[in-house]
Amino acid sequence: MELGTLLIVDDEKHTRDGLRLSLEDEFDVYVAADIAGAKEVLKSEQIDLMVTDLRLGSENGMDLIEHAMSRPHPPIAIMMTAYGSVNVAVEAMKRGAYHFVTKPLNIDELEIVIKRALRGRDMERENTALRQQVEKNFALENIVGRSAAMEAIFDTVRQIAPSRATVLIEGEHGTGKELIAHAIHNLSGRPKGKLTIVHCAGLSPQLLESELFGHEKGAFTNAHEKRTGRFEAANGGTLFLDEIGEIDASTQVKLLRVLGERTIQRVGGNQDIKVDVRIVAATNKNLESLVEKGDFREDLYYRLKTIKLTMPPLRERRDDIIPLSQKFLKDCAKENGKPERDLTREALQALVSYDWPGNVRELRSAIEHGVVMCNSDRVTVRHLPMEVRLAARGEGNGTNSRTGQIALAPLDDFNLHTMEQRFIERALEKTGNNRTEAAKLLGISRRTLQRKLKENSED
Ligand SMILES: Nc1ncnc2c1ncn2[C@@H]1O[C@H](COP(=O)(O)OP(=O)(O)OP(=O)(O)O)[C@@H](O)[C@H]1O
Ligand SMILES: [Mg+2]
Repeated sequence: MELGTLLIVDDEKHTRDGLRLSLEDEFDVYVAADIAGAKEVLKSEQIDLMVTDLRLGSENGMDLIEHAMSRPHPPIAIMMTAYGSVNVAVEAMKRGAYHFVTKPLNIDELEIVIKRALRGRDMERENTALRQQVEKNFALENIVGRSAAMEAIFDTVRQIAPSRATVLIEGEHGTGKELIAHAIHNLSGRPKGKLTIVHCAGLSPQLLESELFGHEKGAFTNAHEKRTGRFEAANGGTLFLDEIGEIDASTQVKLLRVLGERTIQRVGGNQDIKVDVRIVAATNKNLESLVEKGDFREDLYYRLKTIKLTMPPLRERRDDIIPLSQKFLKDCAKENGKPERDLTREALQALVSYDWPGNVRELRSAIEHGVVMCNSDRVTVRHLPMEVRLAARGEGNGTNSRTGQIALAPLDDFNLHTMEQRFIERALEKTGNNRTEAAKLLGISRRTLQRKLKENSED
């Protein structure tokens, strides 16, 4: 404990002197005989701890506590009183005193109280530091993940967020790329700028260029006004280029230039405009293979992947399925005005064994399906989407949940018949055309399977 400053306020000289003597080894001690004197000291010194008598001649120590507490850096206050009653203690605490001790003073007791008070304050300071840390983590707090793979992603994000290094996030649809981009921005220490998002797919090359770099008036037909682009808008912040794999060759060249020189030119302009932008790009393609095919510039790829994060598909981190489901159960219940319900064990098993081709996004919508369909006290397998239910069947029939389940991409149109056909085909594929095994996998008898195959072939 560092040597703190202590102010003793008492109208009796012998108490002041006695306390000073016993505490001056550990504190920088100041004394005052009345409120005016104490105020002076509080004004000129940064006091950590103030011990004051309740009765200060005709004055009241409570008033002094109140005054001290209203200061910018209030000391910890300890009240001494010969009139120790609960009421006085409560009153003193209400005014902000940390503790009170009764007279005649027991110095040992006072020392203990003082030390405890100081320790309490140190802890509070630590707490504040911790809280700030937590706030920094807030961005990651929303992102559920307890698998080793996600822990590693979190670590990397924490590590790289504060830099200005360009980040490339690869991963299948719905794996959380955009969420991670937000986290990188929130932890970047570039809070002055915002996160600007550009979806690079679905814009014609010309529109994308003007979206990114802006254009001068008359740069092309319909460019009636000058327009600033997203790079300029993101100045001081982060620019998230989503679906970067979709950008055309000419925009790739321009992007390469920005990454190198940190300047842009508006379309139809020739002035270099400096931009201070952190770039995070995402793609569900494998950029490396696009490079190999000649569809993406190699030099741009290398610039982008200064730091590369690969979001693992959900089926490769099944540990995350349960905590994610729990989060989505809560969120979806709230959003849909439904009571919060648990999943049955069987439903959980189905969720864990399904392959999730649409990853976390698909899981979220499966849970929402469950929450909305449910009107019993727990969400059961029955409430889950068909394809997830079938995964549960695979499990129930002794197939290996990691490899044996039948997974299909969710269907656009809900046609039971075609879906059934597809499941049957898939089951036969998986079992190498073994009808007995396929029937088992589907959870139906061999005869039913035979019948269905016959019906289907007659379609
Ligand atoms: N780890 C996670 N914790 C909580 N929610 C998540 C997590 N990962 C993804 N989500 C949620 O799943 C949905 C899809 O995530 P996001 O949009 O970030 O994925 P994406 O990889 O950008 O997908 P796409 O490639 O289709 O654009 C969002 O609703 C997101 O909030
Ligand atoms: Mg996305």
